Amino acid sequence: MRPGCWSRVLIAFGRTTIPMISKILLVDDEVRILDVMTQMLMELGLDVKATAHPDEAVRLVAEEKFHIAFVDNFLGPVEGIELIEQMGAMDRELQFVIMTGNPDIETAICALKKGVADFLRKPFRIEELLVSIDHVRRRLELEQQRKDLLSGLELTVQEKTSELKQTYLSVLIALSRTVEKKDLGTYGHSMRVSDISSRIARQIGLSTSEVENVRAASLLHDIGKIGISDSILAKKGPLDAEEADIIRSHPEKGVEILQPLKQFELLLPAILHHHERFDGSGYPRGLSGDAIPLSARIISVADTYDAIQSDRPYRLAASHENAVREVCAWSGKQFDPGVVSAFTRVLQEGNSEADILKSAQRLCAQKRTGQ
Ligand SMILES: [Fe+2]
Repeated sequence: MRPGCWSRVLIAFGRTTIPMISKILLVDDEVRILDVMTQMLMELGLDVKATAHPDEAVRLVAEEKFHIAFVDNFLGPVEGIELIEQMGAMDRELQFVIMTGNPDIETAICALKKGVADFLRKPFRIEELLVSIDHVRRRLELEQQRKDLLSGLELTVQEKTSELKQTYLSVLIALSRTVEKKDLGTYGHSMRVSDISSRIARQIGLSTSEVENVRAASLLHDIGKIGISDSILAKKGPLDAEEADIIRSHPEKGVEILQPLKQFELLLPAILHHHERFDGSGYPRGLSGDAIPLSARIISVADTYDAIQSDRPYRLAASHENAVREVCAWSGKQFDPGVVSAFTRVLQEGNSEADILKSAQRLCAQKRTGQ
C-alpha cells in the first residue's frame, strides 16, 4: 500500500487518534519498513522515533518516554526478544509489539513470557497495525482500571480497619474505666496519662502514627487490671507479697487480653513494659535503657506523674510541683532522662497543666452524671 493511502484507511477503520498512546519507537533493520511505518503513524498524529540499530534503541529508551516499541525479532547481532528484555528493564511501563516474518509457536510463547503485548506477522497491513495499537491501548486501559480498583479496595480496607480499631478501642476504654472505678483514686487516670504521653511523644518528634499508638497504648496500659479482684485493687493499707505479685502481673494480663486483636499488635510492647525502669529494676522483664520500648518509657513517666497526684488508699495526693520534682528526681534511675527532658518541655509549653486539669474536671463531671 502506498503511503498516501494511509489517511483513507484510517477513516475507513473509524479512528483518527489513539488515546493514551502518543509516542512510538520503531526498531527494524529494514529501513524501508521503518520509513513506511513512520509515515503512517505520524499521519495518526503520533510522535515516532525509528532506528535500525539496537544500541540506538536502548539509548532512545534511556533518554525518552515511549508508550509502545515495535521491535523486529531479527535485528542481526541481537534478537528482538533480547532487546525487549533490555529495554523492559529500563522502563517497566513500556509496551512491546514484536514483528517477525517467520512466526512460530515457540517464539510467540517466549515473547508472551517476556511480557510482549502483541505479535505482528510480517508483512502486515495497516489495519493490522492499527488493531495492534488498539490492543495495547486496551491493555493499558485495563491495567489502569485494575490499579484504580486495587487502590480503591486498599482505601476501603484501610477505612474499615480503622473503624474496627476505633470500635474495639471504645469498648476497651470503657472496660479500662470500669477498672478505674474499682481501683480507688484512679478514675480518669488512663485518659490523663494518654493526654500527657501523646504530648511527650510529639515533643520527642515521633511520627503522627507513632504518637497515635502511644495515645492508644496509654489508654489501655492498665487494662490487665480487669482480672484483678476488687479486694486487692481497693485494699486500704499495704499489699502483702502475694497481692503485690498479682498487681505486678497486670502488664502481662493486659497483653493476654489484647493479643487476639490484630489491630492492637503495635500497642503490646508499650503495655507489657510500662512498669520497666530505666536502671533495670522494673518488671515484668527487668529491661533497662534503650531495651525498653520508647513508647513504654514515655508512658512510665506520664503514669507516675499522674499517679502521684491522685489520692490512693495508702497515701494522699501530692501537688503538681511535688509530682514534677519526684519525676525529675528519678530521671536516669526509674525514667529515661531524654523522656523526662521532653516531659518538662511539655510542661513549659504553658497550657498543658490547665488542659490536663480541664480534662480531669470533664471526667469528674461525667462521673457525677453517671455517663
Ligand atoms: Fe500499670
